[in-house]
Amino acid sequence: MDHYRRILEETKDLDISLVIPNAGYYKTGRQDHLPVEVIEQMLDVNIYHVGAVTKLFYQRLLDRTLQKPGIHSGIVTVSSIASCHPVAFGAIYHATKAWVSYMNEGLQLEVQRADMPWSKMVDVMCLKPGITVSNMPPAHVRHLATPTDVVVRGAINNLGQYSETYGYWLHEF
Ligand SMILES: NC(=O)c1ccc[n+]([C@@H]2O[C@H](COP(=O)([O-])OP(=O)(O)OC[C@H]3O[C@@H](n4cnc5c(N)ncnc54)[C@H](OP(=O)(O)O)[C@@H]3O)[C@@H](O)[C@H]2O)c1
Repeated sequence: MDHYRRILEETKDLDISLVIPNAGYYKTGRQDHLPVEVIEQMLDVNIYHVGAVTKLFYQRLLDRTLQKPGIHSGIVTVSSIASCHPVAFGAIYHATKAWVSYMNEGLQLEVQRADMPWSKMVDVMCLKPGITVSNMPPAHVRHLATPTDVVVRGAINNLGQYSETYGYWLHEF
């Protein structure tokens, strides 16, 4: 957590309104062949990092709205369509993304509590895209990937309206 607290300290003079814990690590393979270090890396980047950044910045975004009532702040956690179903050879990655989706659902219940002073002060949304152009998709599926700007624009347009989005209608379909 010290690392994240340092980020908070070093960015304290910035008026941050939108936080997107986006980093992700994807490796597939037979469970008995995947090196333990690769599994550790997936749990660290896809789970620990997302939980830590979300927790620390959520608190800061809440304070932002308390200080300037009426302004909006948001957190977009980046899950994946992979969170919707487990697959062979991808058990760890899919499970890490299910964790992100579940965390978003839980936080969503918390921020929507109409009877609490923090109600609806921060827009929380989970992005669950399908295959999108980046370094992540394996070569044999890259021709199916959706341009990044399409997914990002779709997601940002949905922020404040939906608790989760696929970013692109075809991914949802
Ligand atoms: N592309 C897809 O088809 C797809 C679909 C669904 C969800 N997603 C999710 O979208 C998010 C973004 O991924 P991407 O598609 O843009 O993949 P990408 O091109 O591989 O980028 C992954 C990002 O995560 C960062 N990262 C990975 N390991 C890290 C570590 N140990 N410490 C710090 N940063 C680390 C990378 O930083 P460096 O550049 O410094 O290595 C890079 O910025 C991920 O959460 C991914 O799971 C992607």
